[in-house]
Amino acid sequence: MNRIEGRVKVTGLATYAAEYPAEGVAYAYPVQSRIAKGRVKHVDAAPALELPGVLAVLSCEDPPSLAEDADPELALFRSRDIAYRGQIIAAVVADTYDNARAAADAVRVDYDPDDHDVILRMDHPGLYKPDVVNPDYPTDTELGDVEAGLAEAATTVDVVYETPVMHNNPMEPHAALAYWDEDGRLMLYDTAQGSSTSRDMIAHTLGLPKDQVRVVARHVGGGFGSKGTTRPQAVLAALAAKAVGRPVKIALTRQQMFDVTGYRTPTIQRLRLGADGEGRLTALEHVAYEQTSTIGEFAEQTATVARVMYATPALRTRHRLVRLDVGTPSWMRAPGECPGMYALESAMDELAYAAGIDPVELRLRNEPETEPYSGLPFSSRDLVGCLREGARRFGWEQRDPAPGVRREGEWLIGTGVASSTYPARRRPSKALAKVLDGGDVLVQVGAADIGTGARTALTRIAAATLNVAPERVHVELGDSDLPDGPVAGGSMGTASWGSAVVRACEELVKDGKEGRADTTDEVAKEAELARHAFGAQFAEVRVSTVTGEVRVSRLLGVFAAGHILDAKLARSQFIGGMTMGLGMALMEETLTDEEFGGFLHRDLAQYHVPVCADIRDVEAVWLDEQDDALNPMGSKGIGEIGIVGTAAAVGNAVFHATGHRVRELPITPAKVL
Ligand code: MOS
Repeated sequence: MNRIEGRVKVTGLATYAAEYPAEGVAYAYPVQSRIAKGRVKHVDAAPALELPGVLAVLSCEDPPSLAEDADPELALFRSRDIAYRGQIIAAVVADTYDNARAAADAVRVDYDPDDHDVILRMDHPGLYKPDVVNPDYPTDTELGDVEAGLAEAATTVDVVYETPVMHNNPMEPHAALAYWDEDGRLMLYDTAQGSSTSRDMIAHTLGLPKDQVRVVARHVGGGFGSKGTTRPQAVLAALAAKAVGRPVKIALTRQQMFDVTGYRTPTIQRLRLGADGEGRLTALEHVAYEQTSTIGEFAEQTATVARVMYATPALRTRHRLVRLDVGTPSWMRAPGECPGMYALESAMDELAYAAGIDPVELRLRNEPETEPYSGLPFSSRDLVGCLREGARRFGWEQRDPAPGVRREGEWLIGTGVASSTYPARRRPSKALAKVLDGGDVLVQVGAADIGTGARTALTRIAAATLNVAPERVHVELGDSDLPDGPVAGGSMGTASWGSAVVRACEELVKDGKEGRADTTDEVAKEAELARHAFGAQFAEVRVSTVTGEVRVSRLLGVFAAGHILDAKLARSQFIGGMTMGLGMALMEETLTDEEFGGFLHRDLAQYHVPVCADIRDVEAVWLDEQDDALNPMGSKGIGEIGIVGTAAAVGNAVFHATGHRVRELPITPAKVL
């Protein structure tokens, strides 16, 4: 199906958070900390208040009343303590955006600075073991005897990979419009990946009952995780609107987004692999070092992929964190699985070369019967099918395994492969379906369409359940006054909302007029199974021996992700993820400023993402799976698996082209030459 909202989007008629009109609207502009650690001694608002149009200056000089246990990233102006450079420490509210921005420069802040520490190291003395890793996985696991497995191995690999800080850069910047109505209810238009979940977080932060807050996000211009948790702009808009008694709008600049909308933690990962003479793993150890902030614990589940992927008698996974003077890391497309699989799949490639076994064949030989760590049966798993179909389509059989020998003029050519995986879960959701005058059907669900096509997928799901044409189904989403739905995250959106939509439509058929559903019980009663999507990615690169430039001439992804609900939407998700994975491999990196704290890369001129010219030939295909254990649609989430494994496939191809292994992303020309 074509996107239902495609026409309003491409004609500019779709309304985003910052675009809603509001009578008498004022504008808020944040003032950010210029030091990385210390205290705000004094905020002098007087010079700003003298400027034209300025209505108020908010800061810790007059702290707002917020919930005691509010997330410190959202508890604006409550404390004088500064946790990182760029933290919002004050804000100006003025009659126009430009007046607010100009006055923000005039606010004088005196600091009491402390020494800061912003760099992750594998030997950092502050490393500690968190209680769990996201969302609630064990931090460490141990199975069998890893040291013995390595000692008896015919081939071993012991390598360290590094991934940098990375930032989501959705096209729509983080923005919010807030106003309070006469009976004290907060109306908030926000850039949110979940209107119900955002409402809950805002209500909690402000100490309000949930029904006193309404969050609307009908169109969201991308998020990738950065709009999955409520960000400070929403709280700031609400506080500012209260302070000036007018609606208040805020739209973060791209530079501000780098500071306050979360980022992917950098990782240092050590992989130790051992294999017998046939390439079967005798031991696998995956240890991840990551950072968090001093005000929040975000423990990315980087090494959990090693618990899922390959059969081995000995398996050890560990996560260690260090608290630095940085913002709290957050979600970025496939948090955990994406950096974890970069390292694991690169190490598997190194093992394949060390053992003299084809990298596709090595993976086939290590296919497990059950999920390696848990021992649970898979609801379905077709990594083998993806590897075989990918190899066939890519022409893998003709591949000369020798690295660094294919040359066309200045260009060295190579190919690489890597596996992909992502969990296939769902969360409870509610939905309502009812017959409208004239016989069309209205479906309401607190879902979010962040550019993924959720509105379209849910329309198809409802139409299929009701056996009516999709044109007769009207889906309403993106509003917390609709039946509660979970966040668009963890590739769980469609499975979660879709389950509730199916059940509501089934009830509607029984009732004739209206059907309501709440899948809380259905989700709680799910059988204990290992539920994951799998895939295989193949890359061909051309590496310039003159400049070190890497061009990805071909990228193929083959995915086994349950029943695919809509081919057009699915292809877009897969190739979007793969494109982002190509960016991770070659371009994306946010450098931390060791001297002053904060980040050195703060806009799209410095933080490079792939453009059309970088994407030559990208293809995604899928093997349709029948999996009745998942949900009524038989679908697995597809929003994130596309980015998992891409960077390893590209890196492995660079090795095959050049014979040189780059173990630090991104693979920039300087590292290749
Ligand atoms: Mo996505 S990182 O699960 O919002």
